[in-house]
Amino acid sequence: MTIGIDKIAFYTPNYVLDLITLAKVRGDEPDKYTIGIGQDRQAIVPNFEDVVTMGANAAIKIITADDRAKIDVVIFATESGIDNSKSSAIYVQRLLGLSEFVRTIELKQACYAGTYGLMQARDYVATHPGKRVLVIASDIARYGLSTAGEVTQGAGAIAMIISETPKIVSINTDSVYMSRDVADFWRPIDRQEALVDGHLSTDIYKEMFMTLWQRYQSQTKHQLNDFAGFAFHLPYTKMGKKALDQIMHEATQQHQERLTCNLQASQKFSREVGNLYTGSVYLSLLSLLSNATDLKSGEKLAVFSYGSGAEAELYSVTLQKNFKNYVPAEMTQQLLSKRQVMSVDQYEAMFKAQLYDSHIDVKSDAIVGTKLFQFLGWQNGERV
Ligand code: HMG
Repeated sequence: MTIGIDKIAFYTPNYVLDLITLAKVRGDEPDKYTIGIGQDRQAIVPNFEDVVTMGANAAIKIITADDRAKIDVVIFATESGIDNSKSSAIYVQRLLGLSEFVRTIELKQACYAGTYGLMQARDYVATHPGKRVLVIASDIARYGLSTAGEVTQGAGAIAMIISETPKIVSINTDSVYMSRDVADFWRPIDRQEALVDGHLSTDIYKEMFMTLWQRYQSQTKHQLNDFAGFAFHLPYTKMGKKALDQIMHEATQQHQERLTCNLQASQKFSREVGNLYTGSVYLSLLSLLSNATDLKSGEKLAVFSYGSGAEAELYSVTLQKNFKNYVPAEMTQQLLSKRQVMSVDQYEAMFKAQLYDSHIDVKSDAIVGTKLFQFLGWQNGERV
């Protein structure tokens, strides 16, 4: 049975910050942000959106009546969840009007959890023929105003339907993965912003990629020339280049040019949004599928997922016949181009108001309900 990504969609809030403007206000060289780090713009989350509303907004773009009848599991990957107990997937089930006879679960392991969700979904479909799984990866990446990590913030959600006979890519059973307890990035329960040793995190990412690439090669006998492109987890777009540069010499000159071109295609959307944490590697895949001009059905792409703490997985997908027809390239580009640009003052105000103020008496249903009803066009019990 061929199993993989049948549909994919992306959502990010309607507000955006220009990073050249931010660099000037912070007293940094704009080239450091746009070239050194590789980010042009960054998503800003207004205080009436959260990971649930972003996830539901992504999923609603792809769910059909047929999906509603066949979805058996909703997997929600996030590290910016809105409740320490209740799964974000249950809110999504209600918002999307899915059947009560589904399993719903939230997964956490930094940016890696979306990939675990995808692999669980693939295995579920393998043992439940005809069923589908909705996988959502939704996050808000926050480091704090005027921190080194600020330029790498971002937000958004990816939704994917995993099924048999997928229209976009099949997921091959060739994964290699690893976990190691490392303090490169973490967020204690009482904090809204992540703590990070940025340079250490970059080193661990590169090292885990090299370790898994060598393991993958020895287990599968595949060479770099066998891949048409890579989708990397992109905390900032230069990170993908840093990882790929380590192995680029293994490809022929002509293939190096193709891989470089397709790396740029995979970075295009992330340059505009920033880090999505769990969704980032799948935004990179969507960007590659949308912007590369030379991909052919039957070709393989490599996917490298990394989550601080740290856990990583490397696997491949195979492009399906006519996959281009099912990739929402134009819709994604329009979503990015239509966003409203905020000033740095407006961004700072929105940043401070984002998510829950700690002084609010957390009757979370009221707060979450307000956010969700706004998403649905409802306020105080009235349609607005
Ligand atoms: P920094 O210390 O401000 O920057 O932090 P820098 O001094 O290292 O400079 C960055 C790059 O810009 C350097 O290039 C400079 O040379 C260059 P590199 O040596 O790296 O190739 N540069 C310039 N280039 C052109 N013109 C100029 C100029 N000036 C300097 N004028 C850092 C950067 C990324 C560390 C920081 O933003 C940070 O801490 N970010 C957050 C952590 C992060 O994103 N880590 C990535 C790996 S960990 C990961 O992916 C997991 C994660 O997603 C979380 C999760 O799993 O949940 C983060």
